[in-house]
Amino acid sequence: MSTLKIPVRKFDAVIVGAGGAGLRAAIQLSESGLKTAVLSKVFPTRSHTVAAQGGVSASLGNSEEDHWHWHMYDTVKGSDWLGDQDAIEYMCRKAPEVVVELEHFGMPFDRTDEGKIYQRPFGGHMSNFGEKPVRRACAAADRTGHAMLHALYQRNVRANTQFFVEWMALDLIRDETGQVLGVIALEMETGEVVAFHAKATIFATGGAGRIFYSSTNAFINTGDGLGMAARAGIALEDMEFWQFHPTGVAGAGVLITEGVRGEGGILRNSDNERFMERYAPNAKDLASRDIVSRAMVTEINEGRGCGPNKDYVLLDITHLDPATIMKRLPGIREISIQFAGIDPIKAPIPVVPTCHYQMGGIPTNYRGEVVNQDGSVVKGFYAAGEVACASVHGANRLGTNSLLDLLVFGKSSGDSVVEAIKQNNVAHKDLPENFADLTMARLNRLETQTDGSSVNETRLELQRTMQKHCGVFRFKDMMVDGVAKILEVEKLVAKTEIKDKSKVWNTARVEALELDNLIEVAKATMISAEARKESRGAHVRDDAPDSEAFPNGRNDAEWHKHSLWHREGNKLSYKPVNMTPLSVETIALKTRSY
Ligand code: FUM
Repeated sequence: MSTLKIPVRKFDAVIVGAGGAGLRAAIQLSESGLKTAVLSKVFPTRSHTVAAQGGVSASLGNSEEDHWHWHMYDTVKGSDWLGDQDAIEYMCRKAPEVVVELEHFGMPFDRTDEGKIYQRPFGGHMSNFGEKPVRRACAAADRTGHAMLHALYQRNVRANTQFFVEWMALDLIRDETGQVLGVIALEMETGEVVAFHAKATIFATGGAGRIFYSSTNAFINTGDGLGMAARAGIALEDMEFWQFHPTGVAGAGVLITEGVRGEGGILRNSDNERFMERYAPNAKDLASRDIVSRAMVTEINEGRGCGPNKDYVLLDITHLDPATIMKRLPGIREISIQFAGIDPIKAPIPVVPTCHYQMGGIPTNYRGEVVNQDGSVVKGFYAAGEVACASVHGANRLGTNSLLDLLVFGKSSGDSVVEAIKQNNVAHKDLPENFADLTMARLNRLETQTDGSSVNETRLELQRTMQKHCGVFRFKDMMVDGVAKILEVEKLVAKTEIKDKSKVWNTARVEALELDNLIEVAKATMISAEARKESRGAHVRDDAPDSEAFPNGRNDAEWHKHSLWHREGNKLSYKPVNMTPLSVETIALKTRSY
């Protein structure tokens, strides 16, 4: 099909992704009267936000004193000072407002005895600038994301948002000035290709955890937004930073919420020792995730792992009252029984660190506008949630700041779009000629490729390479090899062949198109990681160890900066970290300890 024959549908705004960020943005747009399309590969309430368990952070202070400035401090410290302090202040100050708003949308939070929103402790959440753990995570049992997604979806139904369910966005439409004019998308059932022509485009496609072999992420998390942005010439920021959640079920990778440790759960090694006391004497099991994950891998590597192969540690809640487990953690009990064959009321759960979250992404400011290296905005283009890098998580995200991020920046990106379209009375700009050439070339290749590589085998090769060469601990030579291997995998991706070309439920075609996105994320990650010659947050290298000159291996003089990976030529550039908050004093660089 040539570009000329592609049907075009016009909307004021198109949002790609119907998880928390996309749904929150859509509320702002639809309630303002803008004609809004939301595209999603799955039914909205099956988006990956549904899997978030432990809570959403906000300094409500419902059970003990708390303050947004303490939340901000914890987030900056958690980020290992790589987070932008203007965006972090914005997020932490807005947190109480967006959480209460969500409550008013109908979110069924758990309650304290006084009827207030229930809050539990979480890793790295401290009172009084790092003194002692504080209850900041607002929770609906251990199904917070599930409850949130339903509340947001229902609010969108009320606002008449138009959903395109089981549609996959394939590429961005940009004109010669760089302005974004919408997306080209595929209807998965019929194979129809349609251009969504819009005055504003918001990406809320979530993360790309499926670049790793073991991941808590849903199968849909294939980095579609990142792939589309990279192919359209947008650089990706801080892609070397990936969070490994300490507690994935060993062998299955399914998430066991940090809320388990928030409720009093303890990590133990084969000596039954509460080993986190040695690694984080103050916060113990509630230290930040990068620190807990590394401690667990160290225990396993030093022979204190559990089980026949000594390859996991144990998460113990057998000392908790079974009534608390049934009330606060019913979902993890089910997961543990289903995936580990263990009832956590009676025995500890086998756990290992598992890839969970991408800290980097499409560079944005705190208004959700996509930005170039010099801070200028890419006209017509916005991003929010895990696909975006605002950057509030820096080198390591605190648990429950992800649900907060998608509420705050989903809302702010929506507000920015409304302001841009309504105040400036923006009209649709003409689509450039041949706007779909790249997409049609990709689709045509898949139709005609013979003797190509298998999509499944190539994806597995990609995931195994990333797992082995870019994991919790990173080794210089392994990363150099990893870059070479991923560039080899890229050649296979360019020759994938669809064996089953059936047009109904284009599953094989969709999986091949997703692989085009996974490879962009894998390259960005591997190349950015190999280049960053320091340890910071979740990026820890053997050749940048803890030393007197460089505590924790961090080298601020050379590496206190954001990386930007450019697809064209696989080049890297760097930009400064924003150390200027909006209203308070800079939180100055310090060595991180818990
Ligand atoms: O552990 C959890 O419940 C995950 C929360 C998060 O990633 O923010």
